Amino acid sequence: MSLAHGVRTVGILGAGQMGTGIALVSALRAKVPVLLYDRSSEQVTKGLSLMDKLLAKDVAKGRITDEQAKDARDRVQVVGSEAGLKGFRDVDMVIEAVSENLALKQSIFSSLTAELGPDAILATNTSSISITKIAAAAIPQGSNAASEDAKRSAGRVVGLHFFNPVPVMKLVELISALQTTPEVLDRTRAFAVACGKEVTTSKDVPGFVSNALLMPFINEAIMCLEKGTATREDIDTTLKLGMNHPMGPLQLADFIGLDTCLAIQQTLYEGTRDSKYRPSVLLERMVDAQWYGRKNGKGFYEYNNS
Ligand code: 3HC
Repeated sequence: MSLAHGVRTVGILGAGQMGTGIALVSALRAKVPVLLYDRSSEQVTKGLSLMDKLLAKDVAKGRITDEQAKDARDRVQVVGSEAGLKGFRDVDMVIEAVSENLALKQSIFSSLTAELGPDAILATNTSSISITKIAAAAIPQGSNAASEDAKRSAGRVVGLHFFNPVPVMKLVELISALQTTPEVLDRTRAFAVACGKEVTTSKDVPGFVSNALLMPFINEAIMCLEKGTATREDIDTTLKLGMNHPMGPLQLADFIGLDTCLAIQQTLYEGTRDSKYRPSVLLERMVDAQWYGRKNGKGFYEYNNS
């Protein structure tokens, strides 16, 4: 069957909260076989158990049948650590969802370009890092960036930014690097639509549209707390009840992960040199203390993760 996105198998790199969610919507909504890889097998186990829980909940709520849940789960296969990125050799698209670290992403894209076939799309779920920089890392070592080979390698890199929790949030932001080809952009958009998402597009600027707007808002809330303007509860309640936000900004920061918020804010600040994006000292100190939010039980609030 010929699909507009042409993705017969997708590889998801990273089994954290984002990667797991992307694997789930790919298997359940786009109905595409998924290969899931994370260098931490513990993370894979956690991701698969979250997936099972979410599918069981959808069945219990009558949204999908038992059979649909089973089919979706059967579409997800784990790539073992011995295979590593080589396990993605035959996929038509990889979606990278590892932590927000430029050097890590560059090294991954440099390896992926060597492993995958020439028509495979290399998508990154980065929240803020330049897609153009990541695409440059996909150019084979020693190639001139203007060569056909380099243009082909970098041209298949694209930004595909999902939102947490992926199965619930309806949006995906699509970002073209300077090098991305129109065909790759169209196929990637078609894949996001097949995953049940509405797609907006953003230029490749730090934070794109979403985080260029969201992160100063979260940071301002943290600075309110830092200055003692109000308690954490009152800051969050103001936004929840006064503006109908589903979560207050401090709750949302905990939900996204304070380490991730800081990494995004640093990228915004370094990328724009605009002081409005400077991360608050309190956020930096909380990350120094390894208080990462909901994922490890302590952020602006405490969570029982057991
Ligand atoms: N994974 C999957 N599903 C989840 C979930 C998770 N981590 N957390 C909650 N859900 C599901 C619940 O299971 C429930 O599903 P159901 O309708 O099938 O029962 C549904 O979400 C609603 O959950 P609850 O009833 O428990 O709680 P709420 O009504 O408070 O909703 C929420 C939870 C959907 C997370 C809501 O509070 C919300 O929309 N918050 C804002 C989230 C947001 O802004 N996300 C974007 C963050 S920015 C981002 O991701 C970009 C990145 O670059 C930083």
